[in-house]
Amino acid sequence: RAAADPHRPVYHFTAPAGWLNDPNGLTQRDGEYHLFYQFNPYEPLHHRIHWGHAVSTDLVHWRDLPIALTPSDGPDVDGCWSGVLVYDGDTPTIVYSGRHGERELPCVATGSPDLVEWTKIAENPVIAAPPADVEVTAFRDHCVWREGDAWRQLIGSGIRGQGGTAFLYESTDLREWAYVGPLLVGDSAAGEAGAPDWTGTMWECVDLFRVGGEDGAHRDILVFSAWDDGVTHHPLYWSGRYEGDRFVPAALHRLDLGGRYFYAPQSMRDESGRRLMFGWLQEGRPDSAAVAAGWSGVMSLPRVVTAAPDGSLRQAPAPEVDALRDEQLVSFSSVLSAESVEVVRGDELDLELRLTLPHGGAVTIALRATDDDAERTHLHLQRHGDRAELTLDRTRSSLDPAVDASPRAGEVPVQADGRLDVRILVDHSALEVFAGGVPLTTRVYPTRPDALGIRLSGDGVPAQLRVWSMHTVARDAAAAAGA
Ligand code: FRU
Repeated sequence: RAAADPHRPVYHFTAPAGWLNDPNGLTQRDGEYHLFYQFNPYEPLHHRIHWGHAVSTDLVHWRDLPIALTPSDGPDVDGCWSGVLVYDGDTPTIVYSGRHGERELPCVATGSPDLVEWTKIAENPVIAAPPADVEVTAFRDHCVWREGDAWRQLIGSGIRGQGGTAFLYESTDLREWAYVGPLLVGDSAAGEAGAPDWTGTMWECVDLFRVGGEDGAHRDILVFSAWDDGVTHHPLYWSGRYEGDRFVPAALHRLDLGGRYFYAPQSMRDESGRRLMFGWLQEGRPDSAAVAAGWSGVMSLPRVVTAAPDGSLRQAPAPEVDALRDEQLVSFSSVLSAESVEVVRGDELDLELRLTLPHGGAVTIALRATDDDAERTHLHLQRHGDRAELTLDRTRSSLDPAVDASPRAGEVPVQADGRLDVRILVDHSALEVFAGGVPLTTRVYPTRPDALGIRLSGDGVPAQLRVWSMHTVARDAAAAAGA
């Protein structure tokens, strides 16, 4: 029974039951945030996808609303895949990928003012086929925005033999689209297919936006999820310049060091002007385990995205997440030693750790650890100059041999005085880590009920730590599904 599953998060958003993947249609209207998502209400498997819908005034307490889009006879008979919501004047309009057999084509639906009732337009699909002059690897997912007096749209794709791409289209009415060309084409021959920054043969969930920098300058960012032949690799982004019909890339970056565990993100600009992002925390356990549990897929906490002076992004949990804090369990300031010390226990926690890392200095944080160390997840941080290597070791994260135990690693920035702020959100199997503004999101599935220890060690590293327990976010529909 879903309610009894110890791996189910209590303060992250999950579907009432069944399967969840990508965030879709992110919108804020009259103060209310709308989160739509890829949803199979009938079983925790990726099959005949609907659009689930939830609403919130604070980004952390969500109320389930009726399913927004259901596959029906026609171009979306096999699924209503990812897309976005825009306002065409006062008319809420969803642009999504209708799936029919192996084909995905752009479809449009218009909504009631409260965004609850949706009507698919008769002209669907609104684009009859991918661009004719190239052989595409896939053709789906949408980024739509208003530019001057026209609409522009990016559709994720790939050109066989070349690499992933985003095709640009233009329209005046969201129904008739003229093809402009590829905004940018990746090079799938560059780098190894297994490398953490491989750009893939297809780009899922392309998302183009502009962020203001700490220095007051703007950056253009093109986010995509690198995909190849059915395999979801990882989210990446180009920083650079959007110049109308093309994107001039400056640098390629990893969006989240957790790779596929923060997949298919979508962002929005909220009414206060913030750039907010959500992503899908995929499962690291087999389908059979999800079927037994009755649910699959976790939505990330909302993140605020800003630009650093070097053009890369900084990410942090939205300040609204602080409202989920319950009781402060720990507050201390000390110098860590080589001996590992338990600082708190729990699997519903928010930790804020401020380190001062000397050159070469290292810290190990054990999470979800049993007393005998039979299960534990290790995070290591080791400083080299103005960077630190962040490593996630999951080799002993679970005694269950069926779950993914592959490592993750990458670099995070350290301030000149060695300061490094680390935030760790533990929510049963969901783990979101932010170090120096760089996230590492993952999943862990310890089997033992005593896998609750949080331990710190570090050779002479000054550390300040504050830890809070977190509220369980109750939702009526979630309670009903578990009953
Ligand atoms: C990304 C993705 C999208 C697609 C959707 C289908 O995870 O594969 O490309 O639209 O999920 O659910």
